[in-house]
Amino acid sequence: MVDVVILAAGRGSRMCSSVPKVLHKVAGLAIVDHVIRSVSSIAPANVVVVASEAVMTREYCGCEVVLQSAQNGTADAVMRAIPYIRSEEVIIVCGDLPLLTAEHLEELTNSKADIAFIATELPCRLMRMPYGRVITKDGRFVKIVEYADAADSDKKCGVINTGIYKFKTSLLAEMLRKVEKSEATGEYYLTETLGIAQRLGMTISIVENGDYEAFHGVNTMKDLAIAEGIMQNRIRNTFMDLGVRMLNPESTFLSYDTEMESDVTIEQNVVMGTGVKIRGGAIIKAFSYLEDCEIGANTSVGPFARIRGSSRLERGVTVGNFVEVKGTMLGENSKAKHMAYLGDTYVGSNTNIGAGTIVCNYDGVNKHKTNIGANAFVGSNTTLIAPLNIGSGAIIAAGSVITENVENNSLAIARTAQSVMPNGAEKVWAKKGKHIIK
Ligand code: UD1
Ligand code: MG
Repeated sequence: MVDVVILAAGRGSRMCSSVPKVLHKVAGLAIVDHVIRSVSSIAPANVVVVASEAVMTREYCGCEVVLQSAQNGTADAVMRAIPYIRSEEVIIVCGDLPLLTAEHLEELTNSKADIAFIATELPCRLMRMPYGRVITKDGRFVKIVEYADAADSDKKCGVINTGIYKFKTSLLAEMLRKVEKSEATGEYYLTETLGIAQRLGMTISIVENGDYEAFHGVNTMKDLAIAEGIMQNRIRNTFMDLGVRMLNPESTFLSYDTEMESDVTIEQNVVMGTGVKIRGGAIIKAFSYLEDCEIGANTSVGPFARIRGSSRLERGVTVGNFVEVKGTMLGENSKAKHMAYLGDTYVGSNTNIGAGTIVCNYDGVNKHKTNIGANAFVGSNTTLIAPLNIGSGAIIAAGSVITENVENNSLAIARTAQSVMPNGAEKVWAKKGKHIIK
């Protein structure tokens, strides 16, 4: 059995942000939640070390949440977790590695050494990234030198510490007590324990993994942007492998929990926030923004559409340009093709919502619901003042302001009657001094 400790209490000062570093999101999920998910298949994380309960609570993550109120370094953070470690072995993972997956941890879990850690080799272009350097001599591990403390010759070494370790629990506390403060930063480094263990003759295994991108640590906003880019590519590739067509993958932005079936088509510049499910044959046209919604089979959304707030579009629905749909269900084959707002509305099947229809769901204090039946026709530029029921088969004349319920199969007209004065225009033109040639 192995326990897992996640270190997430760092100040994150290099982010220059008021948001704790590990709560910044990658593909819509907090960095630390990515780490919790990736370790969960080898062993559920049982301790997360945080700086405050604002970052994580036991109720939220289901694991022990330990506070490290003064950020004295990674060794100090692990020290806080020691009383909660029950198994003979413990895996320690830095909480700022959102691209890690369970596969990357497999080899580490199998190691029989007293201490094992994952190292990776950086390509030349990333050589200046300030990771801890793994120093070896004649193929044997010597120590890890933090970038801030490293000599120029050590900085040229491309093998870095990824921040993922496995310790025999019985040795860990002893090693931690021997760590001395870094002169450069005043912190106690967990990485020091490895050099100490080496000098004491313990067995140390370097588990090398070539997938350096997966161990990308987020320390700055630039690192966060890089992590987002790598994660987006991963998610895009997963969906393209499943038969989703993306006309320009680089401009399609997805979330960690996006679900799409094969034969979905995504045009250019589409963003999906969290909670989006799209069934096969749907097309999401350019410049659309979707979040928290279910899009049925063979629907057409956009261009320039916004769908959100637990909305559901059934099979064959069309939501066209400049249409916003919030908290709304559109039944099979219903259409809202141009410039409309549908909020907190239920629309039956085969109903047409005309251009410029606005559902007034908010009265400044409360939100109200609107029901529109099947086979109804809502004419263009209609204002529907909720709460409201429009029956099935009803017709609403264009330009109406509807404040009262409309029965099934009724025709409602709620607009000022038109009056026409024959030749009235002529008189007006004359007054203005303009003569009309007949
Ligand atoms: C750390 C490693 C470095 C490695 C790199 C990999 C140390 C000293 N260095 O450097 O060798 O190459 O990760 O990404 O461990 N944390 C706490 N309490 C603290 C300080 C940090 O919980 O007092 C947490 C942070 O929230 C973070 C993790 O520990 O999740 C690593 O800390 P960070 O400051 O990011 O260390 P790096 O400089 O990236
Ligand atoms: Mg880091």
